[in-house]
Amino acid sequence: MLASGIMDEDAGSIQRMIDCGAGAIVTKSIGTQPRDGYPNPTIIELDYGIINAMGLPNPGIELYGEEIKKLRATKVPIIGSIYAADADEFVSLAIKMQQYGVSALELNVSCPHAKHYGLEIGCDPSFLHEIVTSLKQQISIPVFVKVSPNIMNLTEIVQAIEKAGADAIVAINTVKAMKIDLQTTRPFLSNKIGGYSGKAIKPIGVRCVYEIAQAVDIPIIGVGGITTGEDAIEYFMAGASAVQIGSAVYYRGPEVFASVCDEIKSWMKNNGYTKITELIGVALQ
Ligand SMILES: Cc1cc2nc3c(=O)[nH]c(=O)nc-3n(C[C@H](O)[C@H](O)[C@H](O)COP(=O)(O)O)c2cc1C
Repeated sequence: MLASGIMDEDAGSIQRMIDCGAGAIVTKSIGTQPRDGYPNPTIIELDYGIINAMGLPNPGIELYGEEIKKLRATKVPIIGSIYAADADEFVSLAIKMQQYGVSALELNVSCPHAKHYGLEIGCDPSFLHEIVTSLKQQISIPVFVKVSPNIMNLTEIVQAIEKAGADAIVAINTVKAMKIDLQTTRPFLSNKIGGYSGKAIKPIGVRCVYEIAQAVDIPIIGVGGITTGEDAIEYFMAGASAVQIGSAVYYRGPEVFASVCDEIKSWMKNNGYTKITELIGVALQ
């Protein structure tokens, strides 16, 4: 799947990802109102990844609906990512998403750089339980919850999410990080703190998936630093039953989806596996 926030805000770029082989699309996180995000600079490329603090720029749920309706004919599932400050706001966004025809919802309760949203909610198990319970009572499409690596109570969080009836856990969002500009002597990003993604965070994502797999029975979708087929296989072995790719679209182009699938197939063939299910969670045994 394409991870939320990377080339997934308008129907044209989403269609390109689909044409290049993405098996599902998670769209940019959407809130109730249009939001500009933070002033530049909002992104910086480092040796092993990218730090961003975009500040959740998005067109808001009404304009998003116009874009997403253009994709109604596509057979590839569209997963609508939403962020909100409380359960009522999540429910109103989710009802709209369901009306737009998305296949599932992904709750962004893990963005590390948006005040009042994201991670500020995603570290509170009872608040998360309340949000997921409300959603499950009022909508019929599956609810995925995307968790953060920037928390100490990951097990408690995912168990609260599972208990509330969520259909899957998505792990991980970006890792809190900072780059200081040596010339100006100040943090490079306008928001100072951002979220790290790309190759450098893969071991963190794999560790989180491994811990989550020991704590819950619902499916896990792995994301974080997946750039090659072998990266995806590591996530499967840790317990993920599907994966998402974000930053690697930047490094390898939209063709990354087809390339990673080919690399998974040839690794499996060379190592005597015939089904992905033979790989899921083997590292835990
Ligand atoms: C520029 C950028 C924007 C992102 N925007 C979102 C977002 O709107 N919602 C969200 O849940 N995650 C967002 N993410 C996080 C990614 O979906 C993903 O969890 C993270 O980048 C780790 O995966 P990767 O290493 O494959 O990029 C964003 C990441 C980047 C790099």
